[in-house]
Amino acid sequence: MVFRSLAILILFILFLLSSCGTGSGDGKTYAEKVKYRQYFNNGRRLYLNHCSNCHQKDGTGLVRLYPPIKGSVYFQKDPGRTVCIIRYGQVGEIFVNGISFNQPMPANPDLSNLEIAELTTYLYGMWSESDSLFTPDQVIELLENCQ
Ligand code: HEC
Repeated sequence: MVFRSLAILILFILFLLSSCGTGSGDGKTYAEKVKYRQYFNNGRRLYLNHCSNCHQKDGTGLVRLYPPIKGSVYFQKDPGRTVCIIRYGQVGEIFVNGISFNQPMPANPDLSNLEIAELTTYLYGMWSESDSLFTPDQVIELLENCQ
């Protein structure tokens, strides 16, 4: 009887230990998580300084003047385009979730590639299913393909 309870106890401890290791489930190492948090937090600060005037703190935009980022299929579809819009701005009519917007968005020539990477990490972390980190190298690559 004692042996049996002991065996059950050991199995239980092994189970606890194994579930610890995979507990987070998202496959990021601790160092990667810390880096992601840094990018995300810096991205939030940049968003509040450079974007939220128009797109609002909660990303819902402003009536027909400024499109939403939260819930925007246009935004979710193409991170490359988002990176280009941040750096170079945007003019001309676009449709966001079926609604037409046609106001110029100013360029951001003063934001570094790192800052754009942080901003993009924040935006997609907040308002899409993705929680991947965008690196400055990826931003450089995406910027090469702007139209
Ligand atoms: C002066 C107001 C203004 C500021 C500041 C601004 N935007 Fe925009 N943004 C706009 C407008 C207006 C459009 C639509 C442009 C058009 O009609 O062609 C737009 C479009 C977009 C889009 C694509 C459409 C969508 O909503 O999915 C994204 C993404 C975006 N902005 C992100 C940003 C980010 C990130 C920042 C901060 C770096 C920023 N914007 C700063 C006004 C602004």
